[in-house]
Amino acid sequence: MEENVVRIFDTTLRDGEQAPGNAMTPEEKLRLARQLDALGVDVIEAGFPAASDGDFRGVRAVAEEVRRPALAALARCHDRDIDLAGEALAPAARPRIHVFIATSDIHLKYKLRIDRDECLERARAAIRRARRFTDDVEFSAEDASRTELDFLCRVIEAAIAEGATTINLPDTVGYALPVEYGAMFRAVRERVPDARGVALSCHCHDDLGLAVANSLAAVEAGATQVECTVNGIGERAGNASLEEVVMAGRVRPRSVSFRTNVNTREIFRTSQLLSHLTGVFPPPNKAVVGRNAFAHEAGIHQHGMMQNGLTYEIMRPEEVGIPHSTLVLGKHSGRHALERRYRELGYDLDEQALEGLYREFTALADRKHEILDEDLLALLHESFRDVPEAYQLTFLRVSCGMASATAEVALAGPWHRERSGSGTGDGPIAATYRAIGEVVGRSVEVVNLSLRSVTPGKDSVGHVFVQVRVDGKTLTGHGASTDIVEASARALVHALNKADHADKLEATSLNSVYLWGV
Ligand code: KIV
Ligand code: ZN
Repeated sequence: MEENVVRIFDTTLRDGEQAPGNAMTPEEKLRLARQLDALGVDVIEAGFPAASDGDFRGVRAVAEEVRRPALAALARCHDRDIDLAGEALAPAARPRIHVFIATSDIHLKYKLRIDRDECLERARAAIRRARRFTDDVEFSAEDASRTELDFLCRVIEAAIAEGATTINLPDTVGYALPVEYGAMFRAVRERVPDARGVALSCHCHDDLGLAVANSLAAVEAGATQVECTVNGIGERAGNASLEEVVMAGRVRPRSVSFRTNVNTREIFRTSQLLSHLTGVFPPPNKAVVGRNAFAHEAGIHQHGMMQNGLTYEIMRPEEVGIPHSTLVLGKHSGRHALERRYRELGYDLDEQALEGLYREFTALADRKHEILDEDLLALLHESFRDVPEAYQLTFLRVSCGMASATAEVALAGPWHRERSGSGTGDGPIAATYRAIGEVVGRSVEVVNLSLRSVTPGKDSVGHVFVQVRVDGKTLTGHGASTDIVEASARALVHALNKADHADKLEATSLNSVYLWGV
C-alpha cells in the first residue's frame, strides 16, 4: 500500500445499523454492500453475527457475493461469538474477524466486572481463536481514549504478539478532543515498536460533534485506517461520516496529506440508497450529502457563483455524484428520455426495469406536472423489491373529515381472488391500516411513521416510512405516492411482505434443522 493511502473501513452495516431506526433486513444489507463495493471502500463490516439470526444471515449473504473488499464480522472475546463470525464469513473471499473488549477501568469495573489481567487474558485467547479462521484479525480496545495509556500499550503489545494485524483504538463515547486523540496515536507508535508492523485504526463517535475532526487528527498522527459510516449514522450521535472524511482528504490534500480509494462520484448514490432503505434521511444541512449542501440562497452568493463557482463552492456537486440536471421530465416525455435521465443519474436499466418504471412514471406524470430527479430516484427505489410481493394493494378509498374516518381496501394475495375489507379509525391512515390488517388477518401495531416530501411543491411525492409490529415482530416498510394515505398503505403492505418472507424463511430453517436432526 502507498504511504499516504488511508483505508476506509465502512461500518454502516454494523455500528450504523445497530442504532435505532436503521435496522435493515439481510436482503437490504446485501443491496447496500453491493453499493459500498462500487463506492470503493477497503473493508465492509457486515455485521455482528452473534447478535441475532438476521445479523448472521446478513453477513453470510454479503460474504457469498461481495468479493473485492475485505469483509469484517464483529465478535466479543467469547468463543461462541468468534465461531459464529468465522462461520458467517466462511464463503468470503477476504474474511476479517474483528474482536473487541473494553479496556478502560470504568468499563472493566462496572460493565465487565473483571480486572486488567483478566481483560488481557481474554483478548489474547480471543485473537488466538480468531486466527484459526483467518490471518486477518482486527482487535479493538473499546473505550481506548479513556484507557490508562500504560495498560493500553500492554494490551496492544499482547494483541500484536497473538497475531492481530489491525489495532483499532476507538473513541467509543465521543469524549476525546482532536489534540488528545492524535496524541494517543503518537504515544502508542512511540511506546509499542511492533505497532509499526500493523495497521492502526481510528473509530470515532460524534457525541461532541468531533468524530471527523478526531479521525483526521488520528490520521495525522499515523492511523492508516479510518472506521466510518455513510451519512454518519451510528450509536447515539453517530460515527464519523465517511463522505466528510473522504472529501476532507480530497479537498485539502496538502493539509491532511492522505487519499483514499473511494470513488467520490458514488457518494451521493450510496447516501441516497441508505436513506431509502432505512427511511432516515440526513438533515438538509448535512455536509456533502444534505439536500442544501450545494444550495446557494443568498443573493450575493448566487451572484458570486454565477461569475465563478469556486467563489462559494469548495467542491463541485458532480465530484460527489450529485447529478447536474439538464432535463425536466413531464407528461410528454417518452421512454427514451426517461432511460437517458436514469443513465445520467448513473443507473443503466434493462428493458424490463425500464418498462416497469415507465409505467410508474406515466402514472406519476398524470398527477404531477414536472418530474424531478428526486422523484425518479424515489420511483427507482420503490420499484426495487427486496422481498417477494405476497400482497399487493389493488384498491383504496377513504373518507374522512371531522368525524371518524373509514377506509375500504382490496389486496391481491395468496388467495384465489382479491380480498377486500374495511376499517374505521381516528384518521384516514389508522382506518386504512385497520382495513389492511383485517384483510391479511394479522394484528398490526404502528411503532413509528414518518412522512417526507420528496420534492418541494403542492404536487410533491410523499415518501412514507413505517415501523410496525406485525404479530409481535418489528418490521419496516416504505411507500411513495402523491397521496399520503396511499403512500402509507403501500408502506404497510411492504412491511407485511417482509413479515410473510421472514415467516417462510423461518419455516424453511426449522425444516432443515428437523431434517438435519433426523
Ligand atoms: O465504538 C466502539 O468502541 C465500537 C467497537 C465495537 C469497535 O464500535
Ligand atoms: Zn463504535
